[in-house]
Amino acid sequence: MKVGRNDLCPCGSGRKYKKCCLGNADSSAMDIKTSYSKKYKIRLKEKKDVDGIRTAGRLVLETLDLVEAAIKPGIITDEINTRVHEFTLKKGARPAPLDYRGFPKSVCVSANEIICHGIPGERVLEDGDIVNVDVTSILDGYFADANKTFFVGEPGADAKKIVSVARKCLKLGCQKVRPGNTIGDIGWAIQKHAEGQGCSVVREFVGHGVGFEFHEPPQVPHFGQKGQGIVLVPGMVFTIEPMINLGDHHLKILDDNWTAVTRDGSLSAQFEQTVFVTENGFESLTPFDL
Ligand code: MF3
Ligand code: CO
Ligand code: CO
Repeated sequence: MKVGRNDLCPCGSGRKYKKCCLGNADSSAMDIKTSYSKKYKIRLKEKKDVDGIRTAGRLVLETLDLVEAAIKPGIITDEINTRVHEFTLKKGARPAPLDYRGFPKSVCVSANEIICHGIPGERVLEDGDIVNVDVTSILDGYFADANKTFFVGEPGADAKKIVSVARKCLKLGCQKVRPGNTIGDIGWAIQKHAEGQGCSVVREFVGHGVGFEFHEPPQVPHFGQKGQGIVLVPGMVFTIEPMINLGDHHLKILDDNWTAVTRDGSLSAQFEQTVFVTENGFESLTPFDL
């Protein structure tokens, strides 16, 4: 099939062939960085970028450790916000959520039936609750994003189950990250485990490219089909952050326009890491045991 000068460029840029790859001897010889930028608006990271995101990632993990030590029955969620905010500034970083699209606080704190984007406030955490704390820090211009779900006091059987399924989902998703695999492979592995355990995968929120900005292309759904979607290449940095519900996958958004809760009121848990695609697999830039 011949491509006309005024046709869309086959590289996927959305521009006319004559304004794009015509004249490049062979557009497939374009380097991957250029072609991923044109095709998908994915900005592949260089070594100095990965180093910067990894350093931001260490701060995110330190922050999550600080939060974990503070969580106990009786604490209000705004206390977690205060600690995250102050620690982040003390380390010379900024909390990415604050003022992001109008988000009013420095961290997302999502208890029990809250799936994500919980706004810290006066809610008191009680014995047996689960609570997800999602920290994104900007250090020297680089963003790293990670979250964990913690137990408050002693967990019951449902809490233990949803937290362990969500944790395993992130682990299985990460294990699909290597050059030549696709974004669909990640979602497929997560969905298969969650649904195999009788749980469900939230559809409305996805993982995302990260590093230069909070949310970059590509989107990384936590459901999908093997072999579908964008092929992973070295230099990609994105999050995997499955939100797993004990009941069905439907959600509603509260009147604050942020808080996402399960429609059926069931528990929801989440774990997130920022991962970097290497030549032969992946490196987590926010590593913790899964
Ligand atoms: N940290 C969330 C994520 O994993 C995004 C939170 S957006 C905010 O992508 F505005 F609520 F902070
Ligand atoms: Co994220
Ligand atoms: Co996050």
